[in-house]
Amino acid sequence: MTWIPEAASNLAGKVDGVLWLITLMSAVFFVLITVLLVYFSIKYRRRSDDDETPYITGSEPLEIIWTVIPSILLIVIFIYAYVVYKDMRTPPKDAVDINVLGKQWVWEFNYYNGKKTLNELYLKQNAPVRMVMRADDVIHSFFVPQFRVKQDLLPGRYTQLWFTPIKVGTFDLFCAEYCGTGHSKMRAKVIVLSPEAYDIWENGAQAGEGSAVAGLTPVELGEKLYKEKGCNACHSLDGTVVVGPSFKGIIGRSEEFTDGSSHTADENYIRQSILEPQSQVVKGFPPVMPSFKGILSDDDISALIAYMKTLN
Ligand code: CUA
Repeated sequence: MTWIPEAASNLAGKVDGVLWLITLMSAVFFVLITVLLVYFSIKYRRRSDDDETPYITGSEPLEIIWTVIPSILLIVIFIYAYVVYKDMRTPPKDAVDINVLGKQWVWEFNYYNGKKTLNELYLKQNAPVRMVMRADDVIHSFFVPQFRVKQDLLPGRYTQLWFTPIKVGTFDLFCAEYCGTGHSKMRAKVIVLSPEAYDIWENGAQAGEGSAVAGLTPVELGEKLYKEKGCNACHSLDGTVVVGPSFKGIIGRSEEFTDGSSHTADENYIRQSILEPQSQVVKGFPPVMPSFKGILSDDDISALIAYMKTLN
């Protein structure tokens, strides 16, 4: 069926099963009721001005039938959905944990071996994973339509969900809880790799590797990182103010800071802003930028700066 997203996790077929069961029952009753309604409207229509409605006292067998049959159907739906729900809430023992942190307005994924990625979730095909999730600030929600999973992330407590990705490919991860200005841009890519490709990614030396594609010029890499690491959620390219200062013309611009100082934005300033954003907050902007320490390598930062230089 094309009107629902591709089924790309082990849970998708089960969730769709519940959906189809309920849809099918609804369709059957819709048709049954509509046909009877039309049929009776014609059969028992008023034929003349002195046509009188007979006195109807009701029928016990009929009452029993239309009480018992829907009750049985509801119990069937409940049991079926409960079995699926229980399965969805019970991660298998061999599921690998991935820590998910949602914050305004990026997704951060921390893997067991110390790898960390931003706005890109790397998964191994046919390997069950458990997302251990928390939020830094407000409620966010982890939603991957193709996996049929959705779960809120809350500040101050952990929530979890699990699934097994069964198809190699790239899928969209959306934040499904309104969380502020950058909500609509709080998206990530879920990249499901074949077991062989995943092993190569997993054993890559660099944290966050997988986005730094070889063969790109620094400017191309910078542009890629700008989109993939979530810079674009807060920093525009055309001068409009989204959450943080626009990147348009940023290099060489004189900035005023909340502590009253001011200086010209140069390479060192950009680097410090990426690694220690709270150390110098531009006047008029909220101190909400997360640190990219351990996420962006020195080469990545250089590439971003190279890219910013093209925006003047
Ligand atoms: Cu995070 Cu909406």
